[in-house]
Amino acid sequence: MGERWEPPAAPERAIEAVVFDAYGTLLDVHSAVLRHAVRLGPEAAAFSQEWRVKQLEYSWVRSLTGPSRHQDFWACTVEALRFVCARYSLRDASLIQDLLDAYRRLDAYPEVPAMLRALKAKGTRTAILSNGTPMMLVEATTASGIATLLDALLSVEAVGIFKPDPRVYALAEHRLGLPAARMMFVSANAWDTQAALAAGYQAIRINRNNAPDEYGLEAAGVPSLTDLSSLPDLVS
Ligand code: LAC
Repeated sequence: MGERWEPPAAPERAIEAVVFDAYGTLLDVHSAVLRHAVRLGPEAAAFSQEWRVKQLEYSWVRSLTGPSRHQDFWACTVEALRFVCARYSLRDASLIQDLLDAYRRLDAYPEVPAMLRALKAKGTRTAILSNGTPMMLVEATTASGIATLLDALLSVEAVGIFKPDPRVYALAEHRLGLPAARMMFVSANAWDTQAALAAGYQAIRINRNNAPDEYGLEAAGVPSLTDLSSLPDLVS
């Protein structure tokens, strides 16, 4: 008597599922503009960056202003494009339509199919947890040839609020039937990585452009990779 019974400790890094952010992590958000870069001219890269920044800003503002202001991520994407076109005085309706069509069919980063296959070969489940609408996620993963390598496409639309609201990260626990601690969350968005960490996930940051550390991720011991190719080696 007197000695407290402790449950056997779970292996610290036993990962049963890897949950990916979609836009910017598996899918190259700049590939839409890149396809039409000649028509956009020398400002194409800056245009693409601003489109992305505005898209995220609109998602955050919609989350913070409450459920009555919620519109889905496609609406944020279209509104953001409209704003950036106005900033750059772009009025070519056919180019604007082509950019939107391209955004629905973004490229996956080149290492993604082999990386997902390697995870599946280890018996690890794979999922997307994204701001994207269910339709956006189906279209983009199908067009980029990775749909069959993913066990679940989870959209924030199921909870009606965008990342980094904690309800989004809880959604993957409910849908995959696993506690966050048994899942690895992988994102190229540092703010998304820190939110997953706060929600109890193990986390990895993808940092393709050598961006500075943010949100104390380094101090929290979050590994940072320059691309996804070595990810399966980190999942045990
Ligand atoms: C997503 C955005 C944040 O896919 O990249 O959720």
